[in-house]
Amino acid sequence: MSKLRSDEIASALQQALDRHSDNLQLESIGTVIQVRDGIAEVYGLDGVSAGEMVEFEGGERGLALNLNEESVGVIILDNFEGIKEGGVVKRLNRQLEIPVGNTLLGRVVDALGRPLDGKGEISKEQTRPIEFVAPRVLERKGVHEPLQTGIKAIDAMVPIGRGQRELVIGDRQIGKTAILIDTIINQKDTDVHCIYVAIGQKGSAVKEVVEALEAHDAMSYTTVVSAPASAPATLQFLAPYAGAAMGEHYMFGGEHSLVIYDDLSKQANAYREVSLLLRRPPGREAFPGDVFYLHSRLLERAAKMSDEKGAGSMTALPVIETLEGNETAYIPTNVISITDGQIFLFPGLFNSGIKPAINVGLSVSRVGGNAQTGIIKKLGGNLRLELAQFREIEAFAKFGSDLDARTQARLTRGQRMVELLKQGQFAPLSVSHQAVVLYAGTNGYLDSFPIASVGRFERELLAFAPTFDADLLPTIQKEPKLTEEIGERLKKLLDAFVKGFEA
Ligand SMILES: Nc1ncnc2c1ncn2[C@@H]1O[C@H](COP(=O)(O)OP(=O)(O)O)[C@@H](O)[C@H]1O
Ligand SMILES: [Mg+2]
Repeated sequence: MSKLRSDEIASALQQALDRHSDNLQLESIGTVIQVRDGIAEVYGLDGVSAGEMVEFEGGERGLALNLNEESVGVIILDNFEGIKEGGVVKRLNRQLEIPVGNTLLGRVVDALGRPLDGKGEISKEQTRPIEFVAPRVLERKGVHEPLQTGIKAIDAMVPIGRGQRELVIGDRQIGKTAILIDTIINQKDTDVHCIYVAIGQKGSAVKEVVEALEAHDAMSYTTVVSAPASAPATLQFLAPYAGAAMGEHYMFGGEHSLVIYDDLSKQANAYREVSLLLRRPPGREAFPGDVFYLHSRLLERAAKMSDEKGAGSMTALPVIETLEGNETAYIPTNVISITDGQIFLFPGLFNSGIKPAINVGLSVSRVGGNAQTGIIKKLGGNLRLELAQFREIEAFAKFGSDLDARTQARLTRGQRMVELLKQGQFAPLSVSHQAVVLYAGTNGYLDSFPIASVGRFERELLAFAPTFDADLLPTIQKEPKLTEEIGERLKKLLDAFVKGFEA
């Protein structure tokens, strides 16, 4: 230890002793050595654990984070202007807790659950610790119930189940957030409570998200945790854990939640900033050595609980923003290794009009297939493979070589399926609608029509369906199975529709 530093500590201690010599003995206390940018370095605080609350002299609260041998790094949670070097800090012997539960629905709050929307107080009747140990394997059950995103390409080819952790990854501005917002909108009329955690985004972007959710009646079952770029790095770092705590409230209560972390790249950056302030040695890409643990302990908390534990679930959809598609950078590879699969978005697809810009070859869902809705699984079963083959054929068809009939048919089908899987924003499709659309595409009903007509074909087909067989869509919606009878009715519907469809 340098001479200067020991002197610093000694004088800080002396000052504290002078002022508080009478009540020092009983509590575990510490002394502020240094304060900067919302972080205090504190000497003392014997026995304090990471994540424990402390209190400064003026009543400001702090969160112990970095436990060095000689000092403790404390994130200051309140206004830190009154905190001075030499001030006393005491342990509160409890973890940081935030409000949870239905009081938060429809609200926009910060990482500590404090309102940001001017809509009045938030009840602190129910709280949970911001950090919590993830459910053990024995307390969990395999993912087996679908979480429908309403996005055809995802539900058919990269299905997500309740309790799953599926990464959404890609460069900026290619529709990552759009997918997540549509997934929230699609939870309307389900029992899934949604929590959207916005980390390091522009304030205006968060506002747009909230407005979109409001416009689609989705805020009544949703909480937005906002830690924008303008918020302190400490709150950007904490925000995802707050979101997880809010989701756990439902999961441990036998209910269901969906928590979106948009995005964890920015959280990692905030953590890097906090760590530098705490003078931790930087490692790879200047991130502190435990940045992997940062994300694994967060995502581990998502689970499907066993029946004995109430059968609740928390689904996690973390987002990673890549730079020029580089998924091999440190943070992306870490998060890919922690999640149960990833939805890979590609700028090339986006720019050529294929939206959502999902790269089917690279996107996987390692557990969601077990949870996929029956009829969608049957109808979309071969889609991944067909599209992969189509991409190969497409590549060499460009060279103008003569194609045999079989290859030409595959090309025709593939082009139409790509077109059919395009989907605009704010238009998630129900299971029954998806079933009708997939049935049409995979059974070749589109093959004889021009590619340019596919979008209109879909719209008109969905409008026609209830007029032709009023009870078909509700029946599929209620029991989403491709029975022989349902197959027959779908066939009749399509045969009738294509007769009247003008390309
Ligand atoms: N499926 C889609 N159809 C049409 N436009 C879309 C679609 N998805 C995204 N967009 C538009 O693309 C832009 C970028 O989308 P966004 O979700 O904000 O990207 P990211 O989160 O990847 O930065 C937005 O203007 C959005 O409205
Ligand atoms: Mg985004």
